[in-house]
Amino acid sequence: GAPPPVFTRQEVGRHRSLAERVWVTYGSEVFDITDFVEQHPGGQSKLLLAAGGALEPFWAMYAVHNQPHVLEILQGYKVGELSPEEPSLPAPGDPYAGDPPRHPALKVNSLKPFNAEPPAELLTENYRTPNQLFFKRNHLPVPAVDPASYRLRVEGPGGRALALSLAELKSRFPKHEVTVTLQCAGNRRAEMSRVRPVKGLEWGVAAISTARWGGARLRDVLAHAGYAEEEEEAGERHVCFEGLDKDQSGAAYGASIPYHTAMGRGAEVLLAYEMNGEELPRDHGYPLRVVVPGVVGARHVKWLGRVSVSGEESPSHWQRNDYKGFSPAVDWDTVDFTTAPAIQELPVQSAITEPAPGATVPPGELTVKGYAWSGGGRGVVRVDVSLDGGRTWRVAELTGEEQRPGRAWAWRLWCLTAPVPPDCAALDIVCKAVDASYNVQPDTAAPIWNLRGVLSNAWHRVRVTVAE
Ligand code: HEM
Repeated sequence: GAPPPVFTRQEVGRHRSLAERVWVTYGSEVFDITDFVEQHPGGQSKLLLAAGGALEPFWAMYAVHNQPHVLEILQGYKVGELSPEEPSLPAPGDPYAGDPPRHPALKVNSLKPFNAEPPAELLTENYRTPNQLFFKRNHLPVPAVDPASYRLRVEGPGGRALALSLAELKSRFPKHEVTVTLQCAGNRRAEMSRVRPVKGLEWGVAAISTARWGGARLRDVLAHAGYAEEEEEAGERHVCFEGLDKDQSGAAYGASIPYHTAMGRGAEVLLAYEMNGEELPRDHGYPLRVVVPGVVGARHVKWLGRVSVSGEESPSHWQRNDYKGFSPAVDWDTVDFTTAPAIQELPVQSAITEPAPGATVPPGELTVKGYAWSGGGRGVVRVDVSLDGGRTWRVAELTGEEQRPGRAWAWRLWCLTAPVPPDCAALDIVCKAVDASYNVQPDTAAPIWNLRGVLSNAWHRVRVTVAE
């Protein structure tokens, strides 16, 4: 065929908006991605940052793009090549070079940004997950924060703002401690993606962990800034959080929670500076993070820089255009993120952590272990376990801290020891939990499949072989 058209970087640079069409380069190739902009799982605005120039510096920030299916999408939009006279760009610096060291046992789902879960069999060894093994879900590079100059900016009513140092946060407000389980909205996404592919990190069953958190109550800090306890007539309001982790455009990670979640009587939302009795580790938000008991991990903003109250939810991509659930009927061509509420409280969840899928277990007696948790402070009242794919059931023994009704912020671990049925070559182990509102888990993932692979809480199944 004819040689591909050749362009200079200057020509590519003239296409930086939907009206002028959106062109980008990758290596020495040129792409017109105008028709992809609306479908971009990472959002329109992010993609447009690269309009008219090279993708490499942006993809260095989001290594999720280093996958064959992403490069395939890109190839579909190729319009030509860069002129051979164009000098190649210097390799982008690594924005992740300053990230902290991590525990070698973690199973890494994405290195840049860092996303990792502990091996399932280590997860339930401890009721409180050791900090180094606690699952890590970062959206951007870990910011380096100087504790001495750190100030939390709190926007008060009527335009007054507070700037609180760490020392002030620790001395002015009573320290409150609470044991809270955090779960990523995408925990167990890998099972959902076996139904049909979804876009997102392939989390196993361990994007969930529990710690004892210590810090100031958000309620006390907002009251100090001049906000009143919940008022009925105030209308819908939200407490918005901004992290100090920022992308190339300077946009910070952000999220929000309803005002009553923060300010309701007895609310236990924390501005935490301690995790399991230690200073907050860098991966978990040093020096200060939000902990919102009962609520999806995405709202527990780390490296907290700013708190404000608004009539609207956080404008962040992650609040408005991600972390929402949809019908299995909705795909990337039809999705409208304004039609679904942001995930806050999570549904009831449980999973088997031992034995491992595909393991060989001896005949005789079998011990099955796992975790169970539900959002909104709803305690776990029961876990049922089946060894025969759900035909017959036994009730597991719950261990770990019993908690106050309506304030069961942390998981229960569970355990079942049962005889292996004789002459059985394989077992199809299943677990399902029941929460205090008698919510149960759905039996399969297909009816709850959604394009982003969130809220994956079907019965967990582990198949094992029985042999001496
Ligand atoms: C996610 C494609 C440019 C930021 C994705 C995904 C695809 C994609 C296919 C989903 C990946 C998955 O399967 O999990 C593309 C293409 C681009 C482009 C074809 C250029 C033509 C950009 C740029 C940025 C960006 C320039 C940032 C400035 C993101 C983010 C996500 C994402 C933040 C979400 C990651 C997550 O949390 O799951 N992109 N992208 N993308 N992209 Fe892009």
